Amino acid sequence: MAYLNALPLPQVLDTTEVFDQIAQGLETNGYIVLPVALPANLTDALYLHMKSLEDEKFKRAGIGRDNQHHVNDFVRTDEICWLTGEHSSAKAYLDWMENLRLGLNRRLFLGLFDYECHFAHYTTGAFYKKHLDAFKGNTNRVVTTVFYLNPNWMVEDGGELVMYSEVDEPIERVLPHYGKLVVFLSDRFPHEVLPAGRDRYSVAGWFRVNNSIGFTVDPPR
Ligand code: OGA
Ligand code: MN
Repeated sequence: MAYLNALPLPQVLDTTEVFDQIAQGLETNGYIVLPVALPANLTDALYLHMKSLEDEKFKRAGIGRDNQHHVNDFVRTDEICWLTGEHSSAKAYLDWMENLRLGLNRRLFLGLFDYECHFAHYTTGAFYKKHLDAFKGNTNRVVTTVFYLNPNWMVEDGGELVMYSEVDEPIERVLPHYGKLVVFLSDRFPHEVLPAGRDRYSVAGWFRVNNSIGFTVDPPR
């Protein structure tokens, strides 16, 4: 599957080193962008699985929780499909994230409790307006991951993830390149997805804490 990329991805990545990098990025900057993080065979298998999913498996993403959950064309227009681990590639991705969860807990004592993630499909022109994945003191979401599955993505294709600082200044524009992984603290960085010029795929996920003292608990989906 080397044709998916201009640069071949290494097959073997030392997870200890990758987890060290992620932990260090979170500790010093609150976020990190890794051009390559997961093994190429896992990335390729996940990509092929996602492409094989029928369109009907993707549902319009909503905003808000529980009975406040609703589709809002002004905020976001992507379509999502939650990973359950039924397919071997989804299972391998969830296993990798489980190891990252343990690795982050060991390094940063974050007490991360579980992980959930979904494929997201942004059709041409789709977007996700500036938002936070978590609100201080009112969430279980602690660390966000976004993993991109777009072979040969060009600058002209747009669809950048734009991250903002706590004082709302743009700090990072991330093109959704194949195999790139972004990890950030969920309550610190407002971010948005700019409209893309072609189909754009990502896997968005969240490590959560079991915050039973909060009255609002994020539903599992
Ligand atoms: C999200 C999100 C970013 C992306 O799903 O909450 O911000 O680049 N996704 O897909
Ligand atoms: Mn988000």
